[in-house]
This record gives sequence, C-alpha cells and structure tokens, in this order.
Amino acid sequence: MTSAPALTPVPPIRIDFSPEDRAWITERISEVLANGRLTLGAYGEDFEKRFAAMTGAKHAVAVSSGTSSLEIMLRVADVRDKDVLVPANTFIATASAVIAAGGRPVLMDTDGATLSTTAAEIERRITPKTVGVMIVHIAGFVTDEMPAIVDLLKRKGLWLMEDAAHAHASTLNGKHAGTFGWAGSFSFYPTKVMTSAEGGMIITDDDHLASEARIYRDQGKASFLQNSHIRMGSNWRMSEPHAIIGLRHLHNLPAMIAARRRIAARYDVALTGPNNGVRPLLPPKGCAANYYKYVVMLPEGCDRAALKAWLRDTHGVQCSGEVYEFPLHRHPVLTHLDPGDLRGAEIACNRQMCLPIFASMTDDEADRVIAALTSARTAGRV
Ligand SMILES: Cc1ncc(COP(=O)(O)O)c(C=O)c1O
Repeated sequence: MTSAPALTPVPPIRIDFSPEDRAWITERISEVLANGRLTLGAYGEDFEKRFAAMTGAKHAVAVSSGTSSLEIMLRVADVRDKDVLVPANTFIATASAVIAAGGRPVLMDTDGATLSTTAAEIERRITPKTVGVMIVHIAGFVTDEMPAIVDLLKRKGLWLMEDAAHAHASTLNGKHAGTFGWAGSFSFYPTKVMTSAEGGMIITDDDHLASEARIYRDQGKASFLQNSHIRMGSNWRMSEPHAIIGLRHLHNLPAMIAARRRIAARYDVALTGPNNGVRPLLPPKGCAANYYKYVVMLPEGCDRAALKAWLRDTHGVQCSGEVYEFPLHRHPVLTHLDPGDLRGAEIACNRQMCLPIFASMTDDEADRVIAALTSARTAGRV
C-alpha cells in the first residue's frame, strides 16, 4: 500500500530576497569588504536618510537591533528609578529595555479591538512616578486611540515613545507609525516586514535625541574619531553589510506591503461573517496596516495548540507565532510586574491565532489556508 503524498506546507512566513536582490546585496558587500569601511559608513547613512524620508521623521539613527533602539531612547530619556507604562501584550524587549535603562515597567491592559491600549487605560495607570508611555503597534495596526493618547500625554506632561517593531509603513490617517510622539523604534529582525538580518532604527524630530542616540550607539563616545566616553553607551552600531541588506528591503517595501495587503483582503472577504468560527481582527478606522501579522480571534474555549497542530497535520498549514502567546506578566522572569488586573491582555493572548502571511504568498496558498479553516469549522475544531 502506498502512503498519501506529503502535503506541500504553507509556511508561516517566507523571507524574500530574489536573485536580483541577492546580486545587488552581494555586489555592495563585496565593495565594503574590499574598501574596509565595514561599520558606520555611507550605506548606513543612506539607509537612515531613506528610512527617515519614508516615515516623514526628521532623523533616523540606525542601530544593531530593535532592542538596542528601545534602550537607547530610554537612556536618552533617563528613566532611572522612574516608571514607564508599557503594554502587557508585547514582546519582552519593550519591558526589558526599560529595566536595562534603569527604569520600572508598569503594565497596561489590552484593548481587544486593536491588541493595543487606550487613553483611558493609560490615564488609569499614571501616578506621580510615571515619566512616559511606550505604545506598541501590535501586528502593524496603529490604534485609532493615538490622537487621544497624544492629547492626554501632552496634558499630563509625559513623553510618548512608540515601539514600532511591527509597524514599518503602517499609518493612521496618513501619519506614519513612530512619528506620533517623541521617538519611534523599529526592528529589522528577519521575520519583520522588512529585514536587515539584524538591526533597528530610531526615528525622531528632536535634534538632541538624534545626536545623543548617535553617541550612545557608539560606546558613548563624544564622536566617531574621539576616544572620550561621555555617556554609558554600548556597541549598538549597525554594520555596513546589515545596512546594505536593509536598504534593499526598504526599496522593496512598498511592493512587499502591497502583496501582504492583497492576501489580507482575500482573508477578509473569506473569513468575515457570522459562521466562520474565527473572527478576523480588522484594522482600526483610519489605519493602513502593513499586515505584519494577520490575526484572527478564536471562539471561547477553542484549544489553539490543538487547532494549529490539526491545520498543520491535515492541511499542511503552519500558523505563525502569536502576538503574543502570553502577556508579559506570565513569563517567569516578569511575574513580579503583575498588577493583578490584566484581564484584557489574558483574553487577547489566549484567543488569538496568526494566519500565514508574507509578501511572496500566492493566492493559492491563501486559499489553502481559507479551505483549511473551513474544514476545521466543519470538523468542529473551531
Ligand atoms: C514589539 C517588539 N519590540 C521589540 C523587538 C525587538 O527587536 P529586535 O529583535 O530587533 O531586538 C521586537 C522583535 O521581535 C518586537 O516584536
């Protein structure tokens, strides 16, 4: 007896560098290997200029990761012994950067409609020790609460930073993620909508913050050629090979995001309706999302791990990682941050699932995901 042919998997993500991209990148990496200008050079400067232009920010400062960009911004803000509000539903780096910079993260609850937070929740958590707030644009969705959040923080005299690690080219009413407050932070980790292999970027309109960030990223040195260390920085530089890779993906970004939006629209049409089992999370009003993730909410009581295993084993559909599987206070290293009233975050984390989405995904692959979800519904799996 012959066994059934193995299913071609629909992967959770695919990282796309075409043969032309690879040739372009290789040629330039070969050039910097030949001339020896391997870090803080012309490609890094070009990457910064083009990224700033894309976002509309005055400055962009390229760094080694999204984690270091957060820590640098927080060091410039000097959060030592101060409280910074951060969402409970985020990646650990949002909170660990606050701790690394000497501050205390205070967790905020999650708004189920956007997976972000609200102005009311921020207001509830502000105390005399609060110095600022970090908003995270989960899945590349910019919450329509941003104008209210900006107004509230202006009134309270607190700064706003955005962890826009998920939100390259996402906008709210035409305004780019990362430009709503004092500074924005991006990650170019390989799974993000654009990558430089590893890397991060700070954007800001503040000349002081930008020049301090350049000092911090290079071991706190007064300048590239001076060996006097005037800040407690680190090696948070972006190398030229990383900047070259990032430049290529930045060039491809509009097309990559258009492709993600096409897949998201296909999912929206098929999955929006009362009888689909799953409920797509739709972008907030005014938000043009980059669809870093396509999130669906599962009905109460649905066993996500079992459903994901079934979709993988019977249909070859591999869902991507959640944003996030657990809220921060459920990680053993951060349980001490639990204020005991983060029910929205618990629900948002328990009930979500992320469908495969990436720039080179075909309509056929998206249709296989839709068909797999339909069978899951028929089989009573969701
Ligand atoms: C919300 C968020 N913040 C920060 C980071 C950290 O970025 P990096 O991995 O580039 O250090 C990530 C990356 O996964 C992230 O998703």
